[in-house]
Amino acid sequence: MRIIVLGGDGYLGWPTALHLSECGHEVAIADNFVRRQYDHELGVQSLVPIEPLTVRVRAWHELTGKQLATYVGDLCDADFTYRIIREFRPDAVVHFAEQRAAPYSMIDRKHAVYTQTNNVVGTLNLLYAIAETDPSIHLIKLGTMGEYGTPNIDIEEGWLEVTHKGRTDRVLYPKRPSSFYHLSKVHDSHNIEFACRIWGLAATDLNQGIVYGQQTDETVRDDRLATRFDYDAVFGTVLNRFIVLAALGQPLTVYGEGGQTRGLIDIRDTVECIRLAAEHPAKPGEYRVFNQMTESMSVRDLAKLVADLHPNAVEVEYLDNPRVEAEAHYYKVTHSGLVELGLTPHLLSETLLTSLYAVADRYKHRADPAALRPTVRWRSPLATARAGSAG
Ligand SMILES: NC(=O)c1ccc[n+]([C@@H]2O[C@H](COP(=O)([O-])OP(=O)(O)OC[C@H]3O[C@@H](n4cnc5c(N)ncnc54)[C@H](O)[C@@H]3O)[C@@H](O)[C@H]2O)c1
Repeated sequence: MRIIVLGGDGYLGWPTALHLSECGHEVAIADNFVRRQYDHELGVQSLVPIEPLTVRVRAWHELTGKQLATYVGDLCDADFTYRIIREFRPDAVVHFAEQRAAPYSMIDRKHAVYTQTNNVVGTLNLLYAIAETDPSIHLIKLGTMGEYGTPNIDIEEGWLEVTHKGRTDRVLYPKRPSSFYHLSKVHDSHNIEFACRIWGLAATDLNQGIVYGQQTDETVRDDRLATRFDYDAVFGTVLNRFIVLAALGQPLTVYGEGGQTRGLIDIRDTVECIRLAAEHPAKPGEYRVFNQMTESMSVRDLAKLVADLHPNAVEVEYLDNPRVEAEAHYYKVTHSGLVELGLTPHLLSETLLTSLYAVADRYKHRADPAALRPTVRWRSPLATARAGSAG
């Protein structure tokens, strides 16, 4: 198949492009490198050094003889988005190219507006580019489990059967997320479902859990193929922060009571899920949703697991929660769709021991302890403005 990976220079896009290429697909990458700019803006860097895209692509060619086409540009520029679809003529488009950090979207108005504009407009341009070029192109879009929030009922795969006043319908599962970033994904989901319904597009929306892991079968072949490992308080996931804190011999900092439960998935399962979704496409007019996660765990249990398995003694500390979120809640998720397509999940406990502790230990000299402390608070704009005017 011909597959274009949007956001192919990012944490997940790069290993996905390699995996699809390794599996025999013709792959192109598009990216505007804005992720590298956020690092400059925030004064942080990936724990694992990453090469420029040109070096990465050359290394892959040297090692395998396989070519990856590259397009540099912004999906919010409609001319660019139309051009890549028209030139490359993909069978499937994998769309990772969004601003993906909840704390980044909650810094202030400017970052909230940027996040929603970048994500929603980029996706809308893409929907039009597909619909006007070739509506049979399968869109595989990365959403997040955070779209659902933490409802007090089971989370289904995208859709919910509702009986109301004696009548029954199948409706999009109601979403109640907890950041402007997660809301951008909800808006995307609605736009994609609408495009499938009215134009007959075929789309798979992957509500992905928190991804962990830094190595895939392809990226381990050469240091030049490494993908990012973000550990800072804005872009780093809770698990990456814990792993780096443990490597530095510092206590693991749990926000609030730590009862927040989240879905997780290994990076090797992510790239495999994308392959499975691409090779088993949605039907014309179908808006298909998979909950792309394999395990769920509370933040408290995550801290305990990282501490218990670590070769050194590790303490756990509880901090004031900078976010506004439920700290004790019901969490039960249906996630059978991808397993039915053939996914065999990895387990976090195994990945910690076989890969993640070693990666953090190798590069801990690059970690900046100041970057681990939370700086973004989920407070009302009025409180933020008052704090600002008080100096
Ligand atoms: N990493 C996770 O744990 C996780 C969990 C759930 C969902 N997701 C979703 O998966 C996707 C990829 O996540 P990631 O961790 O690889 O993020 P990332 O930031 O590392 O990668 C995203 C890439 O997209 C590019 N990009 C952003 N906006 C763009 C635009 N307008 N035009 C062109 N390129 C643009 C960035 O430069 C970056 O290289 C995101 O949509 C994210 O929301 C990630």
